[in-house]
Order: sequence, then C-alpha cells, then structure tokens
Amino acid sequence: DRLGRRGTINGVTLQDSPFLRACQRLPVSHTPVWFMRQAGRSLPEYRRVRADVPMLEACARPDMIVEITMQPVRRYEVDAAIYFSDIVVPLKAIGVDLDIKSGVGPVVAEPIRDLDAIKRLRDLEPDDIPFVTEAVGELVGELADRPLIGFAGGPFTLASYLIEGGPSKNHEHTKAMMYGEPDVWAELMQRLSAITLEFLRVQVAAGASAVQLFDSWVGALSPEDYRAGVLPYTKWIFAKLGELNVPRIHFGVGTGELLGLLGEAGADVVGVDWRVPLDRAAQRVQAGTALQGNLDPATLFAPWEVVAERTRDVLSRARAAEGHIFNLGHGVLPTTDPDKLARLTDFVHQETAR
Ligand code: CP3
Repeated sequence: DRLGRRGTINGVTLQDSPFLRACQRLPVSHTPVWFMRQAGRSLPEYRRVRADVPMLEACARPDMIVEITMQPVRRYEVDAAIYFSDIVVPLKAIGVDLDIKSGVGPVVAEPIRDLDAIKRLRDLEPDDIPFVTEAVGELVGELADRPLIGFAGGPFTLASYLIEGGPSKNHEHTKAMMYGEPDVWAELMQRLSAITLEFLRVQVAAGASAVQLFDSWVGALSPEDYRAGVLPYTKWIFAKLGELNVPRIHFGVGTGELLGLLGEAGADVVGVDWRVPLDRAAQRVQAGTALQGNLDPATLFAPWEVVAERTRDVLSRARAAEGHIFNLGHGVLPTTDPDKLARLTDFVHQETAR
C-alpha cells in the first residue's frame, strides 16, 4: 500500500496519523511534532542505559535500539519515533574501521582518500544488519499507530567523515577530491549512495513508514557544486526510494541557498534549519513539497514566554507551506531540559488543533 505497511488494522490508523498525512500535504487534526535527536543524551534514562555500553554496540543490539527509540515516545506526545542508530552504522557493518567518540562524533581509523580505498567499500547486504530488521520489527509492533521514521546519512556527509577521518569544519580534503578528481569522487558517491539506499530499504522492508536522509553538512557547498557533485546521487537515491512508497524527508544544515535543490532531488518533505523562515523556505522549494522545522534548538534555553512566542512565529510562517511537520532546526542539544520539550510538544498540538 501507499505507506509501505501491510494491510493490518494498525496500518489503517497508522496511515491516518498526522505525521504521515502532513508528509503527503493532506489536512491534519493538529500539526505533527517530532524532534531530531529526541532519543539521546538529553534524557537521563538514555544516559543510564548507555552508561556501560559503547555507542556502536548499542546501535547493534535490538534490545538497546528498541528501548532508546521508545524513551522519548514515553515522555513526549511526539507524533513519530525515530529509529535509534547512527549514520555511520552501515559503514561499520561493511567493515570500515571506525568508532563514535563521545563529545566528538564518528572517527575513521584510516581516512579514505584514493581510488583503491574507495574500491574496498563493498555493498551493504541485509545480512550485515540483521539487528536492524529485528529492532524495526519489534518497534512497529510497540508503536502501533505511531509512525517510525527510518534514516540514513546523505552521500556528502558520509564522504566527509570517511575522507576527513572525523568531524570537519572546512571539509577541505573532501572538497579537494570533489573539485579536483571528479571521477574518483563519482566512484565514492556511487558506492555511498548504494549503501545508503540499502540501509533505508532494510528499515522500510521491516516496517518503517517514512525515511529521512540526513545530508547534514551539504550546506558547506555552493549551489553549483551541490548540483554537479551531489544532486545526481541524491536524485538516484530518492528515485529508488520512490519504489518503496513511503514519504521521503531530506535535511541538511545551513542549506538556505540549497533548499530548492534538496527538493529537486525528489524529497516529499524538505527539512529547514532555523536560519531561513519557513515562509521564505516555502518560496524556495517547488510546488508539492512539504516543509519540516524549524525552531532554533537554542531557544529552549530561553524563558518559556520566548519559546512560546517563537513557536507561534514558526507556526504562523508555516501556513505558507503546503504541509508542515514541526521540528527543531537541528538536533536537540544535549543539555536541553526534557520538560521543556514535553511542554513544547503539547503547545504545538494545542495551538494547531482543528
Ligand atoms: O533521536 C535521534 O535523532 C536518533 C538517533 C540519531 C543519532 N545520530 C544518535 C546519536 C540520529 C538520527 C543520528 C544522525 C547523525 N549522526 C547525523 C545526522 C543528524 C545531524 O545531527 O545532523 C550525524 C551528522 C551523525 C554523526 C554523529 N554521531 C555526530 C555528529 C555525533 C555527536 C557527537 C557528540 O557526541 O557530540 C554522533 C554520536 C551520536 N549519534 C550520539 C547519538 C545519541 C551521541 C553518542 C553518545 O550518546 O555518546
């Protein structure tokens, strides 16, 4: 069926969920809400279960994945859950020597900078990630009519971690390859796109009812460079995802000048960070594209009156969009007070109840 869930009784109410309806630009009973990084360090119960378990081990254990994915759903009235994992999990699964260092991010032991190293990146097979199939299956049972969002990293963002060897401010080695060795870059993009597609396919096959592609760091590129070096590959990924019939969300940070291209790649929903007001973002994406976002995550450190006022502003500007999913402009900051997120979720629901 249209939303990828088999014809179960749950499937019927799932399809009626405000989140999946908003992705399709259909009328909703209230504006749906979820938060990027809703599962993670801002929750004491997360810190407790992760205390003795390294990040990548947690991402490979179905019991941990299910528990951590469910934690924010128990706390907040969010309209969707996001699968607990990381964008580098499929790279680890094909044998890339990498780790996720707390407070740093993904670190790659031997950065990939030439064609030989690129050719050693093999395809991802479903058998490499049996824990994904198992965890997603359990989650869709527990979540019932609440959608589960699957996700993967976009090819530029994955390439940056592999080439730089870790988080990077300037992406200089990545851009050197992209600008200076276009054939080598193309080979890397093709391989990463196939890996990303397979990671998403496995999640959808197991029951995820929407997907988000996080090409978080593409905002580092000019529109011309994005069009030449990334768009052909994200277009391919979204076209292939189209065969799965689930809503597709495309997100990056600092992408004001790229919003039209992120939509052009084939997304049903474009995620917007806090730098571009949603009414302006609506003018930058083509007709038929819904928007997601975009309260500045730092707002949650200001007094509640400020949070309320700025949230009302986001909601009012979102009326210019064809469909709106409320979110922050990027992930929940680790020291955010969870009670503020609970209050924000309820506030958006109340303000938009129809
Ligand atoms: O609630 C959720 O959003 C669920 C899970 C999720 C994680 N990573 C868990 C995680 C998601 C969707 C991601 C995606 C991800 N990972 C992105 C794209 C999203 C974005 O924020 O732009 C990127 C760029 C990464 C790479 C990565 N992994 C970073 C930058 C970090 C943070 C480093 C740090 O410690 O500051 C990680 C680690 C990571 N991924 C954590 C979590 C909960 C923290 C690990 C820990 O608890 O120690």
